[in-house]
Amino acid sequence: MTEHAMPDVAPNTADLFEIIQTTRSMRRLKPDPVPNELIRKILEAGVCAPSGGNMQRWRFLVIRDPKIKQTVGAYYKRAWDEQVAPRYRSGEPAPGMSRERFLRLLDAAEYLAAHIHEAPVWIVPCLEGGTPTRTSGSSIYPAVQNMLLAARALGLGATLTTLYLQFEKEVESALGLPPGFHSYALLPIGYPMGRFGPVRRVALSDIVYDDRWGQLTKICSDPEHPCDGLRSYRFVIPRRTVLSRTILASSSARPRV
Ligand SMILES: Cc1cc2nc3c(=O)[nH]c(=O)nc-3n(C[C@H](O)[C@H](O)[C@H](O)COP(=O)(O)O)c2cc1C
Repeated sequence: MTEHAMPDVAPNTADLFEIIQTTRSMRRLKPDPVPNELIRKILEAGVCAPSGGNMQRWRFLVIRDPKIKQTVGAYYKRAWDEQVAPRYRSGEPAPGMSRERFLRLLDAAEYLAAHIHEAPVWIVPCLEGGTPTRTSGSSIYPAVQNMLLAARALGLGATLTTLYLQFEKEVESALGLPPGFHSYALLPIGYPMGRFGPVRRVALSDIVYDDRWGQLTKICSDPEHPCDGLRSYRFVIPRRTVLSRTILASSSARPRV
């Protein structure tokens, strides 16, 4: 490798990957206050993210006001109780997820719905512009992920939530958003009651293709670098689709979000 080709690797990359791999949705939070200094660090991480043309049409509402949290929290709970919980409870877990794990996820989501107003601080990332689209989302969700990672690095729990958007107008009015601005998420933040564990995701070997759609990657077949660094699991594929690895990869083997 020539001198120019040497990668400019930051000193603590191990820490970075550890943080990425343990940034889970932390839905059970203590009501203990979070110092401003930590919230500032989270926001600084947020604005380090890219945005289209570096326009930075973002605004970040930091909500601590108990009245606003009560009002918005009630809409969040209604959305959960009336629309989302019944759908989830009568549906199937994501492919590869056990029913037991799925039920634990629903319990945690239910807990958050009942207690979201108790999280000591919320960050609501907003963006200027008309109708939220995939393109506009691309200019705010990198900041959201940076903030989730920063919160984790500081020992704070958070969850990316969008469920409140079922009552978008009511919530944005309660948040006092001016015309022309929209919220893209609501991040309840606080010290977690539980521990940060590793995230669980589908195995790379099921979802990464080399050169052509459906051609499963060889990245994971190198015995010296097997893709087992993550605690990943395999898709559960209906038997009739298991004809070849290519079909397996291109048919029903898609993750549900
Ligand atoms: C677009 C999006 C919206 C989400 N909305 C909610 C939500 O409203 N409430 C919630 O409890 N979790 C929400 N989540 C969190 C996901 O459920 C969570 O990331 C996923 O189950 C994986 O779990 P993990 O983050 O613990 O690894 C959302 C995640 C994304 C990416």
